[in-house]
Amino acid sequence: MNKKDRPIGVFDSGIGGLTVLKEIIKELPDEGTIYLGDTARVPYGIRSPETVIRYSFENTRFLSSRDIKILVVACNTASSVSLDAIKNSIPIPVIGVIEPGAKAAVRATRNKKIGIIGTEATIKSGSYTRAIKAIDKDVEVFGLSCPLFVPLVEEGWTEGDVVTMITKRYLEGIKDKCIDTLVLGCTHYPLLKKVISSVIGEDVRLIDSAVEVAQEIKATLEIAGLKREQEEMPLREFYVTDSPERFIKVGERFFGQKIEHIEKIAVGG
Ligand code: DGL
Repeated sequence: MNKKDRPIGVFDSGIGGLTVLKEIIKELPDEGTIYLGDTARVPYGIRSPETVIRYSFENTRFLSSRDIKILVVACNTASSVSLDAIKNSIPIPVIGVIEPGAKAAVRATRNKKIGIIGTEATIKSGSYTRAIKAIDKDVEVFGLSCPLFVPLVEEGWTEGDVVTMITKRYLEGIKDKCIDTLVLGCTHYPLLKKVISSVIGEDVRLIDSAVEVAQEIKATLEIAGLKREQEEMPLREFYVTDSPERFIKVGERFFGQKIEHIEKIAVGG
């Protein structure tokens, strides 16, 4: 296949990366996409870097075998610990979610105090702090893990008393830092935007990495001369490593459209 017509490959630990895929499709509607959700091994956010790196390599190997032209690591946890290793292992452009989010946060902050919320593994890795400091070393960064947010969103609990209470409890840890910008450093958190904004204060700018990532992909394809030129409908394929039913049910809420052409596959071993 002509290189330009090949699809964009996207992987995540499970359903959450659909928030990223949604933005990619919005920004680049003519591009084909292949999405892999490692639903049998989610969550990545509580696992060691070694394990997440191994899973990421296996996901990369699968998507590379599908003849993709660019790889997007939609998972913040996987991007935090395995992006450099993946970049060195394949000959196509690889885009993670950390740098685009960090860039947008540095652009947005006025008082140079940025909060990051994400999984335990993402916060522990210090990936956002490093990426932000590489752009502006004077920015103060405050990281906070919010482990209950992922299961809440997976259950469809994105508003209401319980969610507000948990959000308040978590964000207490960051409220007195006077941040003016908060990075939603996890695929699931954009679905909690409303409640997070009401708790942290509407004057704090929320950064949704998904939007930034889609723009970064567009720029990369343009620079590399890899934008698709075909007229017919682009390919949209989904692969999961566990049964597709739950992925479809919960995923359609994340994705905002129907999930078709889905297949269960094995990536490990
Ligand atoms: N996709 C993960 C992330 O963005 C959240 C879910 C998980 O822990 O696997 O960090």
